[in-house]
Amino acid sequence: MKASPLILEGFEIRTFRREDLDRVIEINTRCLPENYSTFFYLDLYNRFPKTFLVAVADDEIQGYIMCRIERGLSKLRALRLTRLCHVVSIAVMEAYRRRGIATALMLRAMRNAAVEYGATECFLEVRVSNEPALRLYSKLGFRKTRRIVGYYMDGEDAWEMARPIFEEDLMKGLK
Ligand code: ACO
Ligand code: ZN
Repeated sequence: MKASPLILEGFEIRTFRREDLDRVIEINTRCLPENYSTFFYLDLYNRFPKTFLVAVADDEIQGYIMCRIERGLSKLRALRLTRLCHVVSIAVMEAYRRRGIATALMLRAMRNAAVEYGATECFLEVRVSNEPALRLYSKLGFRKTRRIVGYYMDGEDAWEMARPIFEEDLMKGLK
């Protein structure tokens, strides 16, 4: 049997399961100051299970992404009502960074958002000081659409970043 490329790279992407919750909360708490209630995680999972993903390496979850599908104005084109994939949170354990896990999570989430929920655009907010994440998103074709002053609890600004989800992208998340 042919091994999938993700397994050759040493990690696997799969959808979130309820029993993953404690580990996802642990990763979130270790990696980000934005933390959420159990209800918040499970609500996103119940409503949008196909875009709540985890990355498994060395038999343990090392990263996650969770998204909300929203109907609203396009961030990229004026006055267009659009179905948007809002990346609420993504994080990868420090020891597992720089091996493509976040890229794979983003690509698979965008693919699933399009295929399962009809999203045509993806957006997120990121701290203006978060260089690693800003680089990750620009590499994935996101552009800055708006600076949101004082977006975070500590007063830091956010960049809102967005990109369209193209037909050609839909296969990439499967890699
Ligand atoms: N410095 C410079 N560029 C970086 C860095 C870094 N530390 N990390 C990632 N990049 C860029 C690089 O261009 C990289 O490609 P390369 O390795 O070929 O040079 C590209 O992003 C892809 O990197 P991945 O390996 O796919 O990303 P990784 O799995 O390391 O995860 C992440 C990136 C999620 C930002 C990780 O550093 C992390 O968990 N940080 C803490 C939590 C966080 O900031 N999350 C994002 C908050 S915003 C939000 O959630 C919407
Ligand atoms: Zn957000």
